[in-house]
Amino acid sequence: MKKDLLKMADLTKDELFDLIELAEKLKYEKKHGIAHKILKGKTLGMIFEKSSTRTRVSFEAGIYQLGGLGLFLSSKDTQLGRGEPIRDTARVLSRYVDGIMIRTFGQEIVEELAEFSSVPVINALTDYAHPCQVLADLLTIKEHKGSFEGRKMCYIGDGNNMANSLIVGGLLSGMDVAIATPVDYRPHPEVLKFAESYGNKFTLTDNIFEAAEDADAIFTDVWSSMGMESEIEKRKNVFSGYQINAELMKKARKDAMVQHCLPAHRGEEITDEVFEAHAAEIFDEAENRLHAQKAVMATLMSR
Ligand code: CP
Ligand code: NVA
Repeated sequence: MKKDLLKMADLTKDELFDLIELAEKLKYEKKHGIAHKILKGKTLGMIFEKSSTRTRVSFEAGIYQLGGLGLFLSSKDTQLGRGEPIRDTARVLSRYVDGIMIRTFGQEIVEELAEFSSVPVINALTDYAHPCQVLADLLTIKEHKGSFEGRKMCYIGDGNNMANSLIVGGLLSGMDVAIATPVDYRPHPEVLKFAESYGNKFTLTDNIFEAAEDADAIFTDVWSSMGMESEIEKRKNVFSGYQINAELMKKARKDAMVQHCLPAHRGEEITDEVFEAHAAEIFDEAENRLHAQKAVMATLMSR
């Protein structure tokens, strides 16, 4: 049976670790000029209903490096943008391609696409989840810290797609997870329910200093995600204290890493000073999108 990646909770701990291990192998091979045409002759349909730099380029370059072809399908230029139902699009694309990647709004769109597709579907960001990003994030933590167990990950900001996926991914990997959001911008209830089963390994607070205490890795994301443009001004007020800055970094471990899925808004969720001090880790994280997604495609599309 085909397998999809629609959210982090679709993965068991073993599957998560297998993906990270494969990503490490593919990264090593790429760096050493060892070809790995695991998906020779296969095609990935890439549906985009929102903008993207990293996701588009890393998927397109990644499928090519695996020996396959990526087809960029903007909803603006396909019949999706003129109202063709997602379930029909799913059944049509399944006749042409070997996997479908989608970036869209509601999680239910991705779920419906997967239900009606006979080929694997990969969520490349919805309002609810960003699993491909979090796989890259976990790979980056492993590279920089060597292990997950006994480590603490912290996220400051909006309880959005990144927060939802980091909570599940962080806990699955064995880390302690602390999240600081304003009370009205909590992560999704389904994710909080998942986190509850991890007992005191999970902390939810509105106090950024409490969340950052002794953290090994500190994450943030934009205050207004794509699709929330009408709330930008309001959110600037609500989130004004939710920033990674030099003062917050003093709470974390001395060797703490900073991660940001990008694009970053300097002066809002992160200061330019902290961003540039941690730029090497942040751009490793961006690079790791390529290796992590190649592992996902190689795993799901070669079955
Ligand atoms: N982090 C991320 O998904 O970046 P893009 O929006 O550029 O794809
Ligand atoms: N939370 C952000 C992530 C962008 C990669 C958004 O959804 O716009």
